[in-house]
Amino acid sequence: MKRIKLVAVAAVILVNPSLALAEPEAEVLHWWTSGGEAKSVAVLQQEFADNGGTWTDMPVAGGGGDAAMTALRARVLSGNAPTAVQLKGPAIQEWYEEGALADISAVAEAEGWADVLPASIADHMRCEDSWCAAPVNVHRVDWIWANADVLKANDISMPGTWQEFNAAAEKLQAAGIIPLAHGGQAWQDATVFEAVALGILGADEFRKAFVELDEAALTSDAMVAVFDQMRTLRGHVDRNFSGRDWNLATAMVMNGEAAFQIMGDWAKGEFLAAGKAPGVDFLCASTPGDGFLYNVDSFAMFNVDGEDRQAGQALLARLIVGKNFQKVFNLNKGSIPARTDVPLDEFDSCAHLSADDMSASSQNGSLLPSYAHGMALRGAQAGAITDVVTAHFNSDMSSADAVNMLAAAVANSM
Ligand code: BGC
Repeated sequence: MKRIKLVAVAAVILVNPSLALAEPEAEVLHWWTSGGEAKSVAVLQQEFADNGGTWTDMPVAGGGGDAAMTALRARVLSGNAPTAVQLKGPAIQEWYEEGALADISAVAEAEGWADVLPASIADHMRCEDSWCAAPVNVHRVDWIWANADVLKANDISMPGTWQEFNAAAEKLQAAGIIPLAHGGQAWQDATVFEAVALGILGADEFRKAFVELDEAALTSDAMVAVFDQMRTLRGHVDRNFSGRDWNLATAMVMNGEAAFQIMGDWAKGEFLAAGKAPGVDFLCASTPGDGFLYNVDSFAMFNVDGEDRQAGQALLARLIVGKNFQKVFNLNKGSIPARTDVPLDEFDSCAHLSADDMSASSQNGSLLPSYAHGMALRGAQAGAITDVVTAHFNSDMSSADAVNMLAAAVANSM
């Protein structure tokens, strides 16, 4: 333990000699409060403590992080920013433009991040010429999770097309099983929507619509078909879906009340935390269609005074991208490491599928940022799309009206 502490202190001194005598401390704002998430963040807390750091936890419950982002704004506006914040995608650059972020280039350079992170991930972590965030993982969004026994008992295999999904759902409904476990919260509606959109639109049209915000792509016939499929899915959720947390929806699949959930692989973290095994208790498959929607969790350090806190930021940044942390954390979280040099032999079949599909998608141009998880668009634009998705899902709005509303909402958000 003592030796580890010395090495850690030495690294901090190397990065910033004035922090030599500082005692690293950090107040960390995050939204990892479910069973699997809490187990994962505990790995970072432990490593931070083992390296002499004092961690003050600031968890803000709420899947997808909307509540956490509201809490962050309030803290920064009151002139009291947290030391480190779970922050991702273009929101990192938005906060940088407000002058709120600390430069962590010294750590990134000392640790050789440019050599161990794929360029597509590293790009999200840079603000102009500096490094301004540290990546933790790669979550995939476009997954279907299923209860293995329920599928077997009903003679259903994992659906490879949306037609197969719909046929399976009807069969399950007739057998008295909830086909789709869903939580009616805007970010969960958006999560399902983008998985459906990727499958129906294909990677190129998805990029045009949700990365480039191209009006023709937003109003295409294929987009009408995406809303049609959302309407079909609405018929396959139970009556009590409104407002349900995502991990409670995962629990419905675990206990056999429901057959499927469409959710990012943080859901796998829940299955694992409950002692369930992939391929035995639960099954994973990518949602129908080609491509890979990535969602990279990362931490940004906010401008704070005090050498102890600055030492805490340097230590945290170093630990987060550390090889061992990336392995242990991601084994719990359901994601795969952001670093390319972490062996995956201890990871399960779902993680291997994710890593293989990510590398194939990155080669054929179908590796895409998740709009629903803040990787593709600025907040106002993503929010405008999600408002339409949710309004459609929770009403009898036609698909044609939804598409028109989508184009108008996006235009107004620019
Ligand atoms: C985050 C995950 C988190 C999930 C549910 C996503 O946006 O990237 O780390 O587990 O939200 O809260």
